[in-house]
Amino acid sequence: MQNNSENKLFAETLQFIRQAFGQPRGTIPLHAPVFGGNEKKYLGECIDSTYVSSVGRFVDRFEEEMARFTGAAKAVVCVNGTNALHLALHLAGLERDEEVITQPLTFVATVNAIAYGAAHPVFVDVDRDTMGLSPAALRAWLEQNVRIEQGQGKDPKPGAYNVKTGRRIAAVVPMHTFGHPCRIDETADLCKQYHIELIEDAAESLGSYYKGQHTGTFGKMGVLSFNGNKILTTGGGGMLLFRDEALAKRAKHISTQAKVTHPWAFVHDEIGYNYRMPNINAALGLAQLEQLETFLAAKRKLAGEYKQFFEGKAGIRYVEEPRDCRSNFWLNAVLLDGPRQRDAFLEYTNQRGVSTRPAWELMHRLPMFKNAQCGDLSNAEWIAGRLVNIPSSVPYES
Ligand SMILES: Cc1ncc(COP(=O)(O)O)c(C=O)c1O
Repeated sequence: MQNNSENKLFAETLQFIRQAFGQPRGTIPLHAPVFGGNEKKYLGECIDSTYVSSVGRFVDRFEEEMARFTGAAKAVVCVNGTNALHLALHLAGLERDEEVITQPLTFVATVNAIAYGAAHPVFVDVDRDTMGLSPAALRAWLEQNVRIEQGQGKDPKPGAYNVKTGRRIAAVVPMHTFGHPCRIDETADLCKQYHIELIEDAAESLGSYYKGQHTGTFGKMGVLSFNGNKILTTGGGGMLLFRDEALAKRAKHISTQAKVTHPWAFVHDEIGYNYRMPNINAALGLAQLEQLETFLAAKRKLAGEYKQFFEGKAGIRYVEEPRDCRSNFWLNAVLLDGPRQRDAFLEYTNQRGVSTRPAWELMHRLPMFKNAQCGDLSNAEWIAGRLVNIPSSVPYES
């Protein structure tokens, strides 16, 4: 049952959101794309040129401009963020029956990508402030569960082995939740110490920086998503960020059915994937990228307004930019006092046309991952029981 003060809080919040978006009635989405630049022009150029598929100048330009924006040595586009994650794990050398450490508070794609390679996820807790993988929890889990070994069998792989399962731990995949960077430098140090590859799921954090460095550029590879709900959209799309140009070249090869470059012959030198982004999507991406700084500034302004509105309010807390971070504020979030209040807030807002949503069901609770090995997950449980995402689109007038 809602009480009077709760009702008042929810009503004020609803009114504030409607005011912030200049929309006194109608539905306010959680995150809608804005097409205010060269989108139609570039799409028209694609059609006129007939280069609408996987080869074309927009693919090359989008990759080059994104590498420049993020500071990565190379960027390779993919059909979506999920297959970019799959490809990253494959390129990192993940094999069947190996393990990958990730966080339980993430979108299912992070963990599905691990399962595609017949590998096993291990869930380690997040920090409460960043909502991303906690280096302290990771260290504790590694100290208790891992031994550095030479490996066994015909083709031994030296590295970190789980003492309980005997499996090699191939990678750690932290995620920058809702665009807030996690403590990625500490996680990178731990990965180095334990000889584990670091792959960042930066699907939500284009335009977010940790200690001045763009997210997705700390590990061997970083993955971005350009799904329709992201800060920059290509319709559907994803990208791999690399420090190592040779690895990027290999990614391009494998994502192109491993076809050996030749003017007419069709020869493939290993099992590849058809993971290439079409030129038409890259054209949309390039037009969006030209507006990214404007999007980031508008989202930062909205975040500032939310922060100010929620300051000092009892029963609801705005999730702020963590220390040492510059967030893209992809999805703003608030924390209610507990699951009952969270559900009441979700019902109140959604029934009145303001789209809000809870955190994802935690990954270790999903049927396909319920038997995965887990560390202590109390921070993830705490967050999931309270968190609600609130409307975060770039306001239309900007
Ligand atoms: C954390 C995270 N990882 C991976 C993905 C997958 O990206 P895509 O939808 O482009 O496949 C998404 C977004 O959808 C995401 O939020």
